Amino acid sequence: MRGRFITFEGIDGAGKSTHIDWYAQRLRERDIRTLVTREPGGSPLGERLRDMLLSEAMSMETETLLMFAARKEHLEQLIRPALADGTWVICDRFTDSTYAYQGGGRGGCLTQIEALERWVQGALQPDRSYLFDLPAQLAAARRASARAADRFEAEDLAFFERVRSAYLQRVAQAPDRFQVIDSRQEIEAIRSQLDQDIATL
Ligand code: TYD
Repeated sequence: MRGRFITFEGIDGAGKSTHIDWYAQRLRERDIRTLVTREPGGSPLGERLRDMLLSEAMSMETETLLMFAARKEHLEQLIRPALADGTWVICDRFTDSTYAYQGGGRGGCLTQIEALERWVQGALQPDRSYLFDLPAQLAAARRASARAADRFEAEDLAFFERVRSAYLQRVAQAPDRFQVIDSRQEIEAIRSQLDQDIATL
């Protein structure tokens, strides 16, 4: 049987990284073979593209194309073979990030993103996407105490407000695929929501 494809999404600082390893561990406790990976990245070439994407100035179009280039490698090298083998793939960010950051944040053209999505992914979509949702101001405060900012994290509050609303539009378009997690909650409450959802997959 094909594995499930699960993605974790949210603005920087919303807390998805806190939960992803725990989530994978919960699956493994259920004897589910699980692979945790991330975008941009996941393949050797994808990780090199990630370094460029997080550090070098480039046009919005170049940024979008490199995100999908990294994604294509990731899909062919890692994600599709794992799913075909029955492994569940847990991916830290996927195409919803492109809609939210390059589309919402940078004002990129959604029709072009859709065309690239079809070209690179065909019909493949995540079976479940968790959106860790947090007001942009709270996320900025969490980031400030955690780490040095990369090229995306250095963007201003208005950018992250656009990213957040683009994510919420994605949820409205695919309500069955998404579970929205209110990241203002305590970690335990979030884990219990994730646990309940695992039981439905
Ligand atoms: P992130 O996943 O937050 O990693 P870390 O927790 O190590 O900082 O960083 C990846 C960045 O890439 C994030 O700021 C969002 C951005 N990104 C896009 O802009 N578009 C995309 O399609 C993807 C996958 C990521």
